[in-house]
Amino acid sequence: MTTMSIRTPDDWHVHLRDGAQLEQTVAATARSFARAIVMPNLVPPVCTVEAAREYRNRIRAATPVGASFEPLMTCYLTNDTDPDEVATGYASGVFAACKLYPAHATTNSSHGVTDVRRIHPVLATMERIGMPLLIHGEVTDAAVDVFDREAIFIERVLSPIVRDFPGLKVVLEHITTAEAADFIRESRDQVAATITPHHLLINRNAMFQGGFRPHAYCLPVAKREKHRVALRQAATSGSPRFFLGTDSAPHPRAMKEAACGCAGIFNAPVALEVYAQVFEEEGALNRLEAFASEHGPRFYGLPLNAGRVTLTRSPWQVPDVIEVGGQPVVPFLAGETLAWRLDTNQVHHSPEVSQR
Ligand code: DOR
Ligand code: ZN
Repeated sequence: MTTMSIRTPDDWHVHLRDGAQLEQTVAATARSFARAIVMPNLVPPVCTVEAAREYRNRIRAATPVGASFEPLMTCYLTNDTDPDEVATGYASGVFAACKLYPAHATTNSSHGVTDVRRIHPVLATMERIGMPLLIHGEVTDAAVDVFDREAIFIERVLSPIVRDFPGLKVVLEHITTAEAADFIRESRDQVAATITPHHLLINRNAMFQGGFRPHAYCLPVAKREKHRVALRQAATSGSPRFFLGTDSAPHPRAMKEAACGCAGIFNAPVALEVYAQVFEEEGALNRLEAFASEHGPRFYGLPLNAGRVTLTRSPWQVPDVIEVGGQPVVPFLAGETLAWRLDTNQVHHSPEVSQR
C-alpha cells in the first residue's frame, strides 16, 4: 500500500503548554488531529471552570487560520477540588474530563492528589454525571522502583477506584506495561487506556544507547521490551478499550539536556506517522482508523469526525530541532527518516452531529 486515507483522528492526551509556545504546539497537533484532550498541568494548574475557559480561548486564538481544531479541556484535581465546580464545568461544556495526578508523580503535579480518598466526593459526582476520569497511573512511594510504579499503582490505587465507583468512566493514560494492558482488557466496561507513539516504538534501552539520551525520557518511563510488545498487541488488537493519546510534551532543549532533565517527549510533529508505521509493522494497518479515530470518540460519547486524512508512503526526515515559543525543542525521532508522510494540505471538518 502506498497511500491510505482514514477518518480524521483525535489526540486524547496532549500537553499544549501556554503563552508563546501555543502557536507551534497547537499547529503541530492541529496538523493531524481535529480534537485533543488538553492536559491541565500548567503553572498554576487549570483547576477552575474560569481558568479552563480562558485557557481554551488562548488555544483558539493560537489555532492556525483555516484549521478546524477543537480543544477539549480538563480539570486538574487537587485534594480540595469542589464537586460542584467539576459538575458546572462539565454541564457547561468547558470541561470534558478531570485529570488525576498523584502529587509529585510528574511535571507540574505538586498540587496533585495526596490520597484518593480526599476526592471520593468528586469521583461520586463524576460517576453520576458520566464524566471521564483520566489518570496518571504511577505511585510516588520512594520505596517503589521507578519501573514498577505503574504496576503497583494498578494494585493499590486503580483497582479500588474501578471497584468503588462501578459506573465511573476511567482512562488509564499513556500505559507502559503488560500489567496495564491486561488490567484494561480484563476490566469492566468503561475502563480504557491511551497508548503513546513512543511507548510503541522504544523500550528503556533507548535512554542508554551509547550514552544517556534525555530526549527518550518521559513519565511513565519506557519499560522492558516485553512490555513494548504487549502494548503493540493491545493497540493493534482492535479492542475499543485502547485508543490514541500522544502525550506530546515539549520542553526546551536546555531543560531536557540538564543535570536534572524534564520528563516529556515532543512527538506531535511525527505522531500519526509513527502510529501508521507501528500498525504496518504489526500487519494491522486496517485497524489504525479504529484506534486513531473511532474508539476515543465512542468512549467519550462524542461524534466521529467527518473529515479524512491521507498518509502516503514517502520517506522524509524529521528536523533536528523545532522552534517552540522561540526556544529550540528536539522532537521525537529527530534527524531520523520516517516511512509515512501526512498530506497536510487538507482541511479538517467539524464533527457531524452532537451525541451528547
Ligand atoms: O513525560 C511526561 N511529561 N509525563 C507527564 O506525565 C507530564 C509530561 C509533561 O507535562 O511534561
Ligand atoms: Zn501527559
